[in-house]
Amino acid sequence: MNDKPEHFIIDGKRLDGRNLDELRPIKIEMSPLDRADGSCYLEWGNNKIMAAVYGPRELHPRHRQNMTRSVVQYRYNMASFSVDERIRPGPSRRSVEISKVSREAFEPVVFTKFFPRTAIDVFIEVLQADAGTRTAGINAASLALADAGIPMRGLVSACAVGKVDGRIVLDLMKEEDNYGEADMPVAMIAGGRITLLQMDGRLTTEEFYEALKLAKTGCDKVYELQRQALLEKYGGEHPVDAEDVSLEGDTDEQ
Ligand code: CDP
Repeated sequence: MNDKPEHFIIDGKRLDGRNLDELRPIKIEMSPLDRADGSCYLEWGNNKIMAAVYGPRELHPRHRQNMTRSVVQYRYNMASFSVDERIRPGPSRRSVEISKVSREAFEPVVFTKFFPRTAIDVFIEVLQADAGTRTAGINAASLALADAGIPMRGLVSACAVGKVDGRIVLDLMKEEDNYGEADMPVAMIAGGRITLLQMDGRLTTEEFYEALKLAKTGCDKVYELQRQALLEKYGGEHPVDAEDVSLEGDTDEQ
């Protein structure tokens, strides 16, 4: 692990040159996996995340089935090689916690009542980690769910905010996350309804509201990129060219 930097903000810029309210670059690739019902590969700064969605499909073991709705299952996993020190394979306290809060971030969003007795499985594989992997996972999962055709109230968009050198900043990278004064991941549905909010560290009430406001602007930016990715994949596939549409044939057949 790197040593704690003396300052995180120098002349108004962060260690990676960003402004305080700037996100790291985000790159989205839709449907990279052939076998999954929906998938998304997302890069966010130095984070590299793969999301796969299977379902709705029959849930086994059967005693876990719910007669009135689908059960959303979410597994967040870090590859052994995703960080400097090898991660032990298998679930850890951290990955179980992240899986739980991420699943809950989708609970108010997915129309589970449409698919009784089934499971909707979301798998997140962190291939490379650099802070903010749970929020990156949620953004990728949201798109993979949409790619799988799962009906949802809206896309869930997530980002972290935090405090370094006494200032509130958007989208912490690793040094800021590890050595900063606070880290607050947030997920919300377009429009601002919060579905995940965690906090590590300390903020005053005023700082908390400032951080929440900044998180909302971050989530809005993420949402726009998610929307663009879906539009590129699905929006323009069958464009209707007005010159190709002839009404004469229709009239003849009537
Ligand atoms: O990734 P996220 O910010 O959602 O969760 P975190 O628990 O705050 O972890 C912050 C970062 O610490 C991760 O993204 C990794 O880069 C790093 N980390 C690590 O190096 N080794 C671990 N066992 C867990 C996290």
